[in-house]
Amino acid sequence: MSKSKSKTVDWTHIASKFPIFKERPGYLFFDNASTTQKPKTVIDCLGNFYRRDCANAGRASYQMSTNLASAIENARARVSSFIGAKSGEVAFTSGATQSLNMVALGWGLKNLKDGDEILLCPDDHKSTVLPWYNLQDLLASFGIRIYIKTIPLHHEGDYDLSAIDALLSDKTRLLAMTHVHHLYGLDMEVDLVRKIVGDKVLISLDASQSVGHRRVDLGTLPVDFLSFSGHKMFASNAVGVLWTKPSIEASMHPVIAGGGSLKETGTQNIPAILSMVPAIDFIESIGIDAISERLSDLTRHLYFSLRQSVSGLEFSPGVDRCGCHRGFGIVSFRHESVSSSDIAFLLDSENIMVRSGDHCLGRKLQGDDYLRVSLHVYNTKDEIDRLVCVLASNLASTN
Ligand SMILES: Cc1ncc(COP(=O)(O)O)c(C=O)c1O
Repeated sequence: MSKSKSKTVDWTHIASKFPIFKERPGYLFFDNASTTQKPKTVIDCLGNFYRRDCANAGRASYQMSTNLASAIENARARVSSFIGAKSGEVAFTSGATQSLNMVALGWGLKNLKDGDEILLCPDDHKSTVLPWYNLQDLLASFGIRIYIKTIPLHHEGDYDLSAIDALLSDKTRLLAMTHVHHLYGLDMEVDLVRKIVGDKVLISLDASQSVGHRRVDLGTLPVDFLSFSGHKMFASNAVGVLWTKPSIEASMHPVIAGGGSLKETGTQNIPAILSMVPAIDFIESIGIDAISERLSDLTRHLYFSLRQSVSGLEFSPGVDRCGCHRGFGIVSFRHESVSSSDIAFLLDSENIMVRSGDHCLGRKLQGDDYLRVSLHVYNTKDEIDRLVCVLASNLASTN
């Protein structure tokens, strides 16, 4: 990954690179953990493919086809260097969900034996959690029983590390975990988890909420699989990445058989893959460390403004409880008497978009009715102030 120095950025100018904000003046988009908006360069890349370059990639000998094959390899090289990997180690998928399922099916089906154990946290995203229960069912139908042991969350919102230590056994084969939590916004401390589980247990890391928000460098991240989506880092929908440690690659089985390679079968979403390049260009034009610092700064501003100005809020685990006040753009909370869905409707009537309702936690949480505000580089403190002002003037405390 290229080392970018933190630099002075004109943050007020960033939104102008995103056509949607010209189309919808005054709209505040605070649902960036769901998906990000797209810069014009990404939209142009998608349009150019269909307008100018549409062919299948590498299936034929004419230039338009061979050029596309080269463009895909260029995108692969670009994505790889962005995450500190080598080009051949990265496969394009349809998104993080497909990548995470490919780990469970491509590795798990081939390698797990009767009695083996998987560790995961049910408070992680469904896409991190459910592929392993699906695999458990599949293997059971062949008479192979695997056991899923669940890691509880610490009250702050990160994993209870002592529980991981206690759950570990000589049957533990893989631990599935998240890099930055999609609801609580915390860094889940991969290094500490690796220290506890040692070298023999594989780690599958869901980096959907960290890539594009903070530096993700496989040169230092001690994991065996890394999965993420393009659409949460300014690229198109329906493209994702699965990085597999080279030493494990040979032990994997194709999940879907057909033309292509082990992990990329059939005609891929070529324009979506190509859009990863302008998305990374955009991120690198600002600098990932500058983005990371900006997101922390915005998170703090959001958190402290809410605390100061809006009464009756209860914050979820995350920035409120960890005391570190280092955030990656996600703050979740609920009100003592007004449901989060009602608040979301109210905000929508003011053209402010936030997430409420089902947060895709791996288990159905009782009272999982948080309102999630998730930020990215085009958001500003003025926008946050408008959100806080609308909340403060509409939510009265019952105390
Ligand atoms: C942590 C996490 N993992 C996985 C996913 C699934 O991503 P996708 O729907 O792009 O496959 C999401 C999406 O919200 C997520 O936040």
